[in-house]
Amino acid sequence: MKVDLLLGLQWGDEGKGKIVDVLTSEYDIIARFQGGPNAGHTLVFNGKKYVLHTIPSGIFHENKINIIGNGVVIDPVILQNEIHKIENEGVDIHKSLFISRKAHLILPTHRLLDAASEKSKGKNKIGSTLKGIGPTYMDKTGRNGFRIGDLESDEWKKKYYELTNKHQKLIDFYEVDLDYDLEKLHNEFFESVENLKKIKFIDSESFFMKSMANKSILAEGAQGSLLDIDFGTYPYVTSSNTTAAGACTGLGIAPNSVGDVFGIFKAYTTRVGSGPFPTELFDDYGSRMSKVGNEFGATTGRPRRCGWLDLVALKYACKINGVTKLMMMKTDVLTGFDKILVCTGYRYRGSIIHHLPFDLSDTSLEPIYSQFKGWSENLQKMNNVKQLPGNLNKYISFLEDELKIPIVIVSVGPDRKETIFR
Ligand code: GDP
Ligand code: IMO
Ligand code: MG
Repeated sequence: MKVDLLLGLQWGDEGKGKIVDVLTSEYDIIARFQGGPNAGHTLVFNGKKYVLHTIPSGIFHENKINIIGNGVVIDPVILQNEIHKIENEGVDIHKSLFISRKAHLILPTHRLLDAASEKSKGKNKIGSTLKGIGPTYMDKTGRNGFRIGDLESDEWKKKYYELTNKHQKLIDFYEVDLDYDLEKLHNEFFESVENLKKIKFIDSESFFMKSMANKSILAEGAQGSLLDIDFGTYPYVTSSNTTAAGACTGLGIAPNSVGDVFGIFKAYTTRVGSGPFPTELFDDYGSRMSKVGNEFGATTGRPRRCGWLDLVALKYACKINGVTKLMMMKTDVLTGFDKILVCTGYRYRGSIIHHLPFDLSDTSLEPIYSQFKGWSENLQKMNNVKQLPGNLNKYISFLEDELKIPIVIVSVGPDRKETIFR
């Protein structure tokens, strides 16, 4: 069977966790393919909220297999806390969670390196989540990384110390003030590794090859296309391929094994951290999105910057990923807006363009908007597509006409049940 992909099309936090949870009943296996605990995927059901960072969002469904793929970077300390919370809900993690031996580990010194690098950049900092993501992927591509499978060797602590000693020299190189107790961090790491070792490690690519014969698989992305290391707003991006190609390398799946590509976007746009954001709002409309949408990072708690939907960027993301079906999230947040704007092009260096230029932070770049009438009906009470207000239908039809991809889900609230299928 083909592997379906689910990806964020903006700067992350589109609502991937919610939709993976909603779709899990249709799949046998859910697999995360990149990123790490920089992600925060929120699930809401039975009146409770759960935030997952490393564990795939299918974990609360019985009899499903959840896999952390080789493209993911894992912090055992964070994973241990995550597992603890899930086990408290009665989930038997040892039956339903497997980890790829080829996934890389985030060491405490990777986190320190992330902090040192950010501090040294001053006001030009990336605004990273400080989870050690960049330095861990740097060690991976630099061929110095520490992998899950290394933990199966008796010599793993030797390798750990070699790498962390090297990191210490690099931290000193940054010449910034960092307050840390390395001994404490080492011990915390060692303790969490003992718990990590209780989880089943697998050769995930072989597992997928076998499973594809008769099992349905949903690959869960983290972050969003505009944070992709190659195609995002570099250097204000994360350190992995968040786009469809990342699912192939992050799980070991051939491109011709990919089935549907589900692209998720918010009915508006948000971004956490630094970097260009052409449609960002600094007025009452932006404040309202932030307040009604409760736009605070699920991992860091930082306020998310808010703005209108950028259709130029969204088209780009759909093309890069080969999106086959779209899902529009947080539609309810726009209820009560007297007008809704969508960016359909940019003024740029004296001309009008309809593509993403090399540098989105170019000061001459200015969005051109189309305007739509808002609606006032409470969407959260609706459960059928026929109930959707006329003005919302006009907004949806416009987006579908422009993107030439059907919007198959309109999400109208954080809860699993607040999902309208079209
Ligand atoms: P992810 O990283 O893509 O999984 O998204 P996050 O969990 O970081 O952020 C999405 C936030 O929006 C979470 O707090 C969700 O509970 C919430 N959410 C998801 N879908 C909707 C929706 O349709 N409406 C509203 N109001 N909130 C939603
Ligand atoms: P989910 O999966 C939103 C952002 C950070 C920062 C940049 C680099 O929940 O959508 P990093 O720690 O990766 O080196 O930070 O990327 N970022 C996210 N923004 N959602 C995320 O994940 C993010 N993961 C990283 O804020 O700007
Ligand atoms: Mg998130």
